[in-house]
Amino acid sequence: MPLDLILMGPPGAGKGTQAKILSQHLGIPHVASGDIFRDHLHRQTPLGQLARQYIDRGELVPDDVTIGMIRERLEQPDCRDGVILDGFPRTLPQARALDQMLSEMGRSLVAVLYIRVQEELLLRRLAGRWTCRTCGAVYHIELNPPRTPGQCDLDGGALYQREDDTEEVHRRRIQVYQEQTAPLVSFYQDQGLLVEIDGERPIQEVTTALLQAIEIRRMAHP
Ligand code: AP5
Repeated sequence: MPLDLILMGPPGAGKGTQAKILSQHLGIPHVASGDIFRDHLHRQTPLGQLARQYIDRGELVPDDVTIGMIRERLEQPDCRDGVILDGFPRTLPQARALDQMLSEMGRSLVAVLYIRVQEELLLRRLAGRWTCRTCGAVYHIELNPPRTPGQCDLDGGALYQREDDTEEVHRRRIQVYQEQTAPLVSFYQDQGLLVEIDGERPIQEVTTALLQAIEIRRMAHP
């Protein structure tokens, strides 16, 4: 059975950081809606131009656009054995559309891993984040610095700060998360899929907790 997982949590919780590590461990792709939008933005496609209007303000891109984009991604052959979804779904209509998509493929979610981090720490993490332009690896200036300043440890790519990494946009993104995405916690709790993980610990400890939770859920999955 494919290993379909969601990593949920507020901006800066560490979803991207953990999804990249889990993807290596589990051998399934990391599908991040934000990364797909940023790739379109970088290539200046029509989708990128549309998404920019929302991303720059910390608002959500409309559901129909986002759902269509993820549907297309999930139909790619590399998603056959499962995926780690990061940043999707973010609204109830997106969550319902995902259930529908997976059911049409004869699949169902194995676990929704909710990484919990308090707001003050989120703001600190987001303020110090640097991302590799080439491979998307994520660093933090104090909490997870690269070996050479400004350079990715993995491929030597240049590190940059995301355009939506400003204090004003961070606060808006956290607010939008509380209003539109936090309700998904009870949605998935009701389905018996939610596993809560303390995301305030060091990166490796969070990874260990996630892997243990996935193993337990995987064994229980029909
Ligand atoms: P998106 O790219 O999804 O951003 P986000 O959800 O706001 O999450 P982030 O990527 O900011 O944080 P993260 O949890 O991945 O943390 P990270 O691992 O980087 O979305 C961006 C925008 O795209 C949205 O605002 C919206 O406009 C649009 N969008 C995307 N999906 C959409 C959807 N489904 N519907 C509509 N619109 C959508 O870590 C943060 C920092 O902390 C890093 O510096 C890292 O090194 C550090 N860190 C991580 N973990 C730890 C730890 N355990 N200890 C110490 N430091 C840590």
